Amino acid sequence: MGDKKILLIIGGGIAAYKALELVRRLAERGVKSRAILTAAGAQFVTPLSLAALTGDQVYQDLFSLTDEARMGHIELSRSADLVVVAPATADLMAKMANGLANDLASTTLLATDKPVLMAPAMNVRMWQSAPVQRNAETLRRDGVLFVGPDDGEMACGEFGPGRMAEPDAIAAAVERALTGHAPLKGLKALVTAGPTQEPIDPVRFLANRSSGRQGYAIADALARAGAQTTLVSGPVAIDPPRGVKLMRVTTAREMLAACEAALPADIAVMCAAVADWRPQIAHNSKIKKGGQKNDQQNDQSLALVENPDILASLAGHAARPRLLIGFAAETDDVVAHAVEKRTRKGADWIVANDVSGDVMGGTRNRVHLVSAAGVEDWPDMTKTDVAEKLAARIAQTIKGAA
Ligand code: C5P
Repeated sequence: MGDKKILLIIGGGIAAYKALELVRRLAERGVKSRAILTAAGAQFVTPLSLAALTGDQVYQDLFSLTDEARMGHIELSRSADLVVVAPATADLMAKMANGLANDLASTTLLATDKPVLMAPAMNVRMWQSAPVQRNAETLRRDGVLFVGPDDGEMACGEFGPGRMAEPDAIAAAVERALTGHAPLKGLKALVTAGPTQEPIDPVRFLANRSSGRQGYAIADALARAGAQTTLVSGPVAIDPPRGVKLMRVTTAREMLAACEAALPADIAVMCAAVADWRPQIAHNSKIKKGGQKNDQQNDQSLALVENPDILASLAGHAARPRLLIGFAAETDDVVAHAVEKRTRKGADWIVANDVSGDVMGGTRNRVHLVSAAGVEDWPDMTKTDVAEKLAARIAQTIKGAA
């Protein structure tokens, strides 16, 4: 790694002791560390041990004349190639997500123009709490990189996600960030997301509860892995990820046309909850209660016709993507339906999930990856983590096949 330098911000948490090990692991890889120790962090590791390991002064105080004279907080953030926050506490994450700057660590994070990598560490319930998940999502969208947290037994005796990633894993993530690791660079990806809306008349439509979250997270993960990504999205209420080309559509037929226009693509992930049926007639004026004034139809039934299947259409397309992935949202016999769907629709993989609970519209997902090799059950995780894991798996497969 030669002459690479990181700025390591150590938050307050029992995992802070692992930061010392991280400094050593990085040094072995030729990466030099300079450290900022928060007041809470200093309760867990001493500035002296950190200074000995980094071979440098440890910076602690925003208002210290000696610290500022040696190296001001703006310069601190600029002197490194990467800022690493380990452990990243709920407090540090909240400050950065919301732009708060009231100490050296938070001021530095706000002032940096360098990539930031966070290794969260906290109690499982804290990690899973709505505010922390919201902040993590905001930070990801702002381009912050994450490593961990891992599942496991914690210092507090509880079990679950929240344990800081091991120093080796953080060091590997640092290396990836420093070398601009982009496994999907040079490849094109197409992702569909959200519901489709099928008009009944100018004010009514048929749709479903899809929030678009899973598809947006996948587009984000693929783009961050270096793929040139097009996101074809039905109507949703979330912000598009950075760096993706967004094509907004309303109906299934528009979605199919947009997908075809986006070809060729190496990878396609069809995550949208496409309406299987649409009203046979989209009325030009609002249908009135008590019979139709504008047309012949005068009962309350709605005639439906089948929509094109986008996934199947891409499977049979002359420019079929090399890796074609569908989703299967089911409420029963999830895996059996997905296995059948994979062959029927001509997809390479199907990501199956049970939507009988609050998955649609929620932030978590438990999926099964169905491929020719069999079925893999993934544990319950956030939709962002599903996206991350899927993007990593895609990179592995595409590279293996290249
Ligand atoms: O048949 P089902 O709707 O369960 O299939 C789900 C998969 O097929 C998803 O990947 C979805 O995006 C895709 N699909 C499609 N076009 C349709 C219906 C579903 O691409 N008309």
